[in-house]
Amino acid sequence: MTILRITGLLLLLCVSMTNAQTMPGGRALLKPDAATTMQLVGDSAEQSATSRVVDVAGQPFNKALQVEILTPVPKPWSVLLIAPLLEPVRKGDVLLLSLYARTAKSMTGESLVSVHLERNGGDWAKLLEAPVATRGDWTRIDLPGVAAFDLSNDDAQVAIHLGFGQQTVEIAGLSLTNLGPNADVNALPRTRYTYAGREPDAPWRANADARIEQHRKSDLTIRTLDADGKPVAGAKVRARLMRHAFAFGTAVNVDEILGSEPQNAQYRQTLCELFNTAVFENETKWPTLDKPDETQRVMRALDWLDGRGFRTRGHVLVWPNFEWNPDWLRPLAAEPEKLRDAVRNHVTRTAGLFRGRFYEWDVLNEPYTNQEFTQILGNPERAQWFKLARAADPNALLDINDFAILEGNALDREHIDYYEATIRELIDQGAPLDGIGFQGHFGYLLTNPDVVLATLDRFGRFGKPMKITELDINIDDPQLQADYLRDFITVCFSHPQVTGVTQWGFWARRHWRPRAALFDEAFKPRPAAIAFKDLVHRKWTTDVTLTTDAEGVVKVRGFKGDYEITRLDVPSTQREIVVLGDRGADVTLRP
Ligand code: XIL
Repeated sequence: MTILRITGLLLLLCVSMTNAQTMPGGRALLKPDAATTMQLVGDSAEQSATSRVVDVAGQPFNKALQVEILTPVPKPWSVLLIAPLLEPVRKGDVLLLSLYARTAKSMTGESLVSVHLERNGGDWAKLLEAPVATRGDWTRIDLPGVAAFDLSNDDAQVAIHLGFGQQTVEIAGLSLTNLGPNADVNALPRTRYTYAGREPDAPWRANADARIEQHRKSDLTIRTLDADGKPVAGAKVRARLMRHAFAFGTAVNVDEILGSEPQNAQYRQTLCELFNTAVFENETKWPTLDKPDETQRVMRALDWLDGRGFRTRGHVLVWPNFEWNPDWLRPLAAEPEKLRDAVRNHVTRTAGLFRGRFYEWDVLNEPYTNQEFTQILGNPERAQWFKLARAADPNALLDINDFAILEGNALDREHIDYYEATIRELIDQGAPLDGIGFQGHFGYLLTNPDVVLATLDRFGRFGKPMKITELDINIDDPQLQADYLRDFITVCFSHPQVTGVTQWGFWARRHWRPRAALFDEAFKPRPAAIAFKDLVHRKWTTDVTLTTDAEGVVKVRGFKGDYEITRLDVPSTQREIVVLGDRGADVTLRP
């Protein structure tokens, strides 16, 4: 839910200000009637959406633009509203974008749009960007910011993305004010985002901790013997978890793993300190593997990771839109059988090339938003990809992977239903599907932990292991980011069927959404890094020193994983490495 925080002075300002007007002292960058005159555009606008101006009573405005999304559309920007700018923006200008929005109709009573001040082409670079989540009543959204670059009015637009499922949304009072370079951005009103369940005493916490205690720990028995094989009472024994059984992973880049610059070394050190599992961000995608020498480089990076005890996921065998694949594939859209062969061969070749090296593979990525291949080849083709992957690398676990399932407060119901139906269909077709992946690319619409748990339970009914594969939280509130990272990982760790949480990178200079990274450009830990470390390497670790009883035994209930057991009260080394698994472990220390 959004909380509008308005400080003393601004309260006065806002009360005397109707929203379509300009902030005092600022210059209006949009026409006063911008909300009702925006243009409805986008790939799906014509066939999937309608717009009309409606009357409104009892608000600071009397007209609103209502947009109805009639049928599901592939992307948020498949249907959007745009408004041109009246004047250019200079780097350093303080801006305030405001609007009102409400949900007229949706399957959940909530709706989502996202608002942007952006370049109207090329890289679509954004100066301002925020989600707008509303219910039936009118909500005002204030989005201030400092322009990070110049934008000429010919190249700029305000864009409101509407394609988040079937919904009817109303927009009013849209204004964008340029307050110039000397205004104080921190003094402007700002709509704050948070999530239900963030409270320290939220009921879900105790339940999650109890499940973690039950499912993530196991009993370790340590016995000590002397040189004659007799139990040693009063011996001092240390049990230290070296590596979690649960996958705490991250996306990595081959350049960083093989590089010889000091920053590469720092990257590797942080990687080893925080994570036990890796996945290549781009290097095992088809277009990259097509490049000469790339396979060799990936193999060398894999050697390095193996040498440090990492397990590595493979990503991705089929991402079934042309956009994500080599350009030479495009013309095959007109030759279905050649396309079929090319994709099948890629699966067989790639899974075979890395046979035994990845413990699991994303076989099929984003089937809801990527249907170009299946429109040509038919949906049953997807099961073939799994079968071919199994044949080429029999020991790898084979996963399906998608986004917007756990993200976005479960508002994208069509996407979620489609994912469930696809999994069901694959199983029915005999696809060797071993695991269900949830990407976890979060924006401001942070999913209530109870809803995360309910969604995991829903997909848990397939009886398969589940994993979070690409977690990142792309928002500009570092404390909210840290809190949500902690809570989201806690819920996932507490679900008995979840086997791992992989983050989509950790360093801002190697991150597709730099502000989502745990560490900034200079490797300074952000609050999220500290929260993660605190959770995984303090709260959820086991490192105890105990004294054996009269039978020479100590019992430890510890987190599952690889342990180093050492005897501390004797000068000679007595050390054992033991795996604490589901059924517990029994280990004996002797001279
Ligand atoms: C992204 C990478 O992070 C970018 O560097 C690249 O330009 C595009 O792909 N879902 C996925 C990932 O499955 O492969 C995507 O990775 C992010 C969304």
